[in-house]
Amino acid sequence: MKPLRLEDILFSQGFGTRRVCAGLVQQGFVSVAGAVCDDPGEFFQPEGLTFTVQGVDWPFAERAYLMLHKPAGTECSQKPSTWPSIYTLLPAPLRTRPQKAAVQGVQAVGRLDQDTTGLLLLTDDGKFIHRMSSPKHHVPKVYEVTVKHEITPDLVERLLAGVVLDDDPKPVKAAACEAVSPLHLRLTLTEGKYHQVKRMVAAVGNRVEGLHRSAIGGLVLPEDLAPSQWRWLSVADLALMSASKA
Ligand code: URA
Repeated sequence: MKPLRLEDILFSQGFGTRRVCAGLVQQGFVSVAGAVCDDPGEFFQPEGLTFTVQGVDWPFAERAYLMLHKPAGTECSQKPSTWPSIYTLLPAPLRTRPQKAAVQGVQAVGRLDQDTTGLLLLTDDGKFIHRMSSPKHHVPKVYEVTVKHEITPDLVERLLAGVVLDDDPKPVKAAACEAVSPLHLRLTLTEGKYHQVKRMVAAVGNRVEGLHRSAIGGLVLPEDLAPSQWRWLSVADLALMSASKA
C-alpha cells in the first residue's frame, strides 16, 4: 500500500470531509506512535498504522470489525422506536465510515432484542455480515438463559430434539443445551430466527426471564468488557470466527 497523507488516512476511516480531517490534525487532536502530529500533509504508511484521536486508538483498516457488550434497554436499529440505539454507544466515525459496497458505516451482525445483553459484532464488511448471519454457515451462538420455572431433563431433551415454532412447520433444534443451575440454561443455536430463544423456551412450557449472549463462534465476550463498552476485534478474534462451525 502507498503511503497516504494523514488527512487522507483519517478521511478513509470516517472522520469526516478532508477539511474536517485536516482541522482535527491541525488542532493537535491526532497522535501517531505516541507523538502529536499537526501536519495534515505528512505521509504515513497506513498498513499496520495505529493512530490516536482524542485518546481513542484507531488501527487503520480497510474494514472495521468490533465487538460491543450490548446493555439492556437498547435497540439494535439505526432508527430505534422506543429505546436508545446501540449505535449511540460508538464513536461517530464508526457510523460514518465511507460507504463500502452496500454498507455505510458499521452495522450489527444480526440483532439482539431490546432486553437481551451480551456479545454483538459490528462491521462494515458486508460479506462478513452475510457469512456470520447465514444459517448455511452454522455459526454457533451461545446464550445464557434465565428461566422462570425449574429446568427439567425433559425440557433439555426437547430443545435438543427440536421444537416447532409458530411460523415454520420445520422443527428448530438447539445445537447444544445444558442446565447450568436450576434456573440457568445454556443454549447454543446456529440459526437466528426472530425471538428464537424466547420462542423455543416458550414452546417447551417455560419462560425467559433474562437473556445474555456469551459467545459467537469461538469468540467469548471478555469479562473485562463492561456493558456499553466496545473493542476492536483482533486478528486472532477474526480467526476464531472464520474457524467456527457447529
Ligand atoms: N433469541 C431471542 O429470543 N432474543 C434475542 O435477543 C436473541 C435470540
